[in-house]
Amino acid sequence: RSGPRRRRGVKVRAEGKLSDLTSVVESQQFDRGMLEDLFEVTKEMERIVEDGAECSLLAGKVMGTLFYEPSTRTRLSFETAMCRLGGKVVSTENAREFSSVAKGETLEDTVRTLEQYVDVIVLRHFQAGSARIAADAASVPLISAGDGPGQHPTQALLDIYTIQKEIGRIDETKVALVGDLANGRTARSLAYVLSKFDKVKLYFVAPDVVRINQDIKDHLTKNGCEWEEVNDLATVAAEVDVLYQTRIQKERFGDKPEDYEKAQGKYIVDKKLVTSMKKGAVVLHPLPRVGEITPEVDSDPRAAYFRQAKNGLYIRMALLTTLLKGN
Ligand code: CP
Repeated sequence: RSGPRRRRGVKVRAEGKLSDLTSVVESQQFDRGMLEDLFEVTKEMERIVEDGAECSLLAGKVMGTLFYEPSTRTRLSFETAMCRLGGKVVSTENAREFSSVAKGETLEDTVRTLEQYVDVIVLRHFQAGSARIAADAASVPLISAGDGPGQHPTQALLDIYTIQKEIGRIDETKVALVGDLANGRTARSLAYVLSKFDKVKLYFVAPDVVRINQDIKDHLTKNGCEWEEVNDLATVAAEVDVLYQTRIQKERFGDKPEDYEKAQGKYIVDKKLVTSMKKGAVVLHPLPRVGEITPEVDSDPRAAYFRQAKNGLYIRMALLTTLLKGN
């Protein structure tokens, strides 16, 4: 089938079932119905955390995390999620240096070894496509926590959940993706997920050296999602419901540091820009930020990026519960 199924012009649920989920590798795995079901589980997770009572939903289960790239939010929210659900965690941060990868072990062998000990694996790797390779090698559920410039599917899930919560809808929203759209895996994953919803318009605002890749534009066109590449952030900011700012990813420029210098600092979200936005609009950012949102924006109610980071805990609790218990 090409493109989403439609009923009276509205994108409808496809066949996917959340309870059939076995691994999380890319955001386009989730159709609209699966997302709606995941949101219901996520709301339950919010209630569990808010109640503050001890939870034993995942008692007896162990999560193993393998992080080959740095992380604050993803790793710690996954670990917190498992703890909040009564499960346990074993963890390798800086896996390139502190695991047997340093001795030459392959990713496949590392995963096949870890699955002897744990019930679910969370992997962050530096190569696009590595999550698929690892998931194919694993016989326990594997969740990608980001694969190089490829995708960051759980970030997209928490982003879309945040949009639903903050704006009250996802259909008929205007969303600006800003910054490093060539290397930014969060922007790519979010674009895929947004294409599942109706009458979403995407604006891509990026420096010339890091414009959004053609594969995303082709996917959006094929799936009936309107998009436009624009240069003027100020005009777009006044129009959109969601301004999704991203960091210029210095670590991905390799032998072209001059391109990083061209891109860095071109699009800054500051108080003046945010004041021009609609009252009910929000500024999101997957974080970390390195100057592309100025700190005085933080006190504006439209600055939702720390609330967004908190939603990461709830979404990851929901994913772990779904994968280890069914939903
Ligand atoms: N958003 C995100 O992936 O942050 P970390 O790199 O800190 O995990």
